[in-house]
Amino acid sequence: MAAVDTPNTQDLLFNPSLIPDSLQALLPPGHVIRPLSKTDWIVRDNTSFLSTLEVLTTVGKISYAKFQERFDYLKQHNDHYYTIVIEDRRRNEQGSAETDLAPLGQGKIVAAGTVVVERKFIHELGKVGHIEDIAVRADQQGKKLGQRIIESLMSIGAAVGCYKVILDCSEKNVPFYEKCGFERKGVEMGWYV
Ligand code: ACO
Repeated sequence: MAAVDTPNTQDLLFNPSLIPDSLQALLPPGHVIRPLSKTDWIVRDNTSFLSTLEVLTTVGKISYAKFQERFDYLKQHNDHYYTIVIEDRRRNEQGSAETDLAPLGQGKIVAAGTVVVERKFIHELGKVGHIEDIAVRADQQGKKLGQRIIESLMSIGAAVGCYKVILDCSEKNVPFYEKCGFERKGVEMGWYV
């Protein structure tokens, strides 16, 4: 599996310069916020990107080939889909010196989120960012990782020209999103096929 282990720039979903350095600086030691990588399928002690999403809902069994197929689609549309992760590179909970850190791409994925950019006719061909699938591993919640994911997605949305960024959430998560600067607007409705 070593061949798919390290995210090189060409493996990343989008240009990492869209994530402000000022947000990297706010992360706990040994943590990095970066675009999803084509190599992030890898299963490592249940700390993969896909297992992180399981705090949200059922993910199911997704083969490496199917993951790559979806990743390639997103990358072909990488001015629409911006998925980011927080990687904890520490080899143990105490470590943070460079020698205690796993190579980038070989740490644990602890949080993830996406902003999807919709192109409209209204507002003079305006763009709207839709925040989706925010997930922080259960044992990592309460460390501001969720907030850093949201701040990064808001920043990406603004940088690519969105005039607003919106999301749907459950009532229990309203205080979290208010802390991140969102306010209640409208009502979410759904239809399941
Ligand atoms: N109620 C009240 N306050 C909260 C809550 C809550 N449910 N969750 C977080 N906060 C507060 C924190 O106390 C903190 O406040 P502070 O600044 O005063 O210290 C602030 O919000 C930031 O919290 P974080 O530590 O960044 O939160 P965390 O990293 O735990 O992430 C999240 C929050 C994403 C909701 C996480 O708990 C999670 O993954 N939950 C399960 C999956 C989920 O519900 N995802 C969101 C789905 S909605 C969507 O995807 C658009």
